[in-house]
This record gives sequence, C-alpha cells and structure tokens, in this order.
Amino acid sequence: MPDAAAYESLHDIVAARRSVRRFKPAPVSRELVEKVLEVARLSPSAANSQPWEFVVVEDADIRRNVALAAASVFADARKKDPTFEWSVSVQPFLFQAPVIILVLGDRRMLPAYPTILRGNVLLRQSLSICVYGLQLAAASLGLATAWGTLQGGAAEAGIREMLGIPDVFTIDHIVPLGYADEVEGARATALEPARSRAPHRRSLDEVVHWGRFDEAKRRSDEAAGEFIWSETVTRVRRQA
Ligand SMILES: Cc1cc2nc3c(=O)[nH]c(=O)nc-3n(C[C@H](O)[C@H](O)[C@H](O)COP(=O)(O)O)c2cc1C
Repeated sequence: MPDAAAYESLHDIVAARRSVRRFKPAPVSRELVEKVLEVARLSPSAANSQPWEFVVVEDADIRRNVALAAASVFADARKKDPTFEWSVSVQPFLFQAPVIILVLGDRRMLPAYPTILRGNVLLRQSLSICVYGLQLAAASLGLATAWGTLQGGAAEAGIREMLGIPDVFTIDHIVPLGYADEVEGARATALEPARSRAPHRRSLDEVVHWGRFDEAKRRSDEAAGEFIWSETVTRVRRQA
C-alpha cells in the first residue's frame, strides 16, 4: 500500500529545501551533524562502492582558511567569465557557516566500476547523490546547506594540505551546514537570481515522456538557450 503520509513528508522536505548562502553564527551540535551524515552514508553508489568520506570542519580559524581557499578562485574567474553570475555562489560565504563538510571521493574505488564505463563519471555521480542525501537530511532537521563545487587547482591543493587530505581523494564538494540567516538572505541583492529563480522547476508535464520521447514536447534549441538566461541562477541579462 502506498504510504501517503511518508510521501507527503518526503515531498515537503524536497520542496522546502533551498540552497542557503547566508548563515547565522549559531553552532550546530555534533549530534545533529552525525544525524545528517548518517543519512548521507546510506546513499546508493555505483557498485555499492561508497566512495565517500567526510571531513567536518568546526574550528573557526580552519573554517575561515578553507573558506578563503574555496573563494579564492572567484576573483580570477570573474574576469574570465564576466557574464556568469558569480555573486550567487556560496563559496565566498562558506566562512559564515558553523560547520563545513568536505565530501571526499576515494579514487581507489574506480576499479569497482565496469571497465567499459567511465569510472570517473560513476564516482562523481555517486558523490553527488550522497551530497543530496545529506542536504535532504539537513533540511528535515531545519538545517540549511548549500553546494560548493571545487574542481582542482590551487584552491583544492591548499585545502588538501590544510586538512591533511591524501591525494587519493577527490575534493569536489564543500557543503556548509548551519542555520539560515533569513534576514541577510532576503536583503542581499547578489542573491536576487537565487531568490526569484531557484525555486522554479519545470513542470511534470514538460519533463515526462510516457512510453517514448514525445516530439511535441521537445524544447527547441532556442528555448533551451533562452531557459539558461531566464531561469538559471548563473546567467542573468543585465540592464543596458
Ligand atoms: C552539482 C551541483 C553543483 C552546484 N555548485 C554550486 C556552487 O558551486 N556554488 C553555489 O553557490 N551553488 C551551487 N549549486 C547549487 C545550485 O545553484 C542550486 O541547487 C540551484 O540553483 C537550485 O536552487 P535550490 O538548491 O535552492 O533549489 C550546485 C548544485 C549542484 C546540484
């Protein structure tokens, strides 16, 4: 029998979760952090490889240094990709969160995956689903998270050294965990695209094809391109 109440609670949590990019300094107890990671560790993974490990950073000085390293890519990146809406990103605000969780990926699990498939993709997919599980668990406890992407370079090397993370681990995802600063989040003009656009999702009818791909629903290339500029949080047309 379908459990309507379970579905409703899951749906409510999924629908209410938002990426939060401004945090209050209020601490999060270890008990809550463990509850969140308990759900993350139960995530499915390619071949049940469970490639994840978590570094939980609570110390204020270390958090600040990790956050500074993650944010350091931005100054340069802004120049290289000026139409990208960098200001929506959480990275420069990671330092606000009382807890930063680094989700590591153990590359030594790659041989678990079928050699005909791209192991790197399977590793990354597994880690992504784990991050989402973590985010949902946090949301169910009234805690806020965001998703900080880190992809190599000096920032990753700096964090690796700071936290003693061995080379065999990827450090792709940094998740701040804390309580949302609703006031600052509502006020920050930089977060306007996130406030107005991020809650939108394409409708069920648009994205579901029953039986076979429904040509009538096919988005034109123009519509897909326009979607990027009108719906994503990272490309926003500026007023001339
Ligand atoms: C794979 C992935 C990478 C992301 N990377 C970043 C990031 O580097 N910085 C950031 O602020 N948000 C990042 N996000 C958050 C998205 O921007 C956000 O989920 C999206 O705008 C929808 O908003 P919502 O999470 O509030 O529903 C990422 C999300 C995913 C799933």
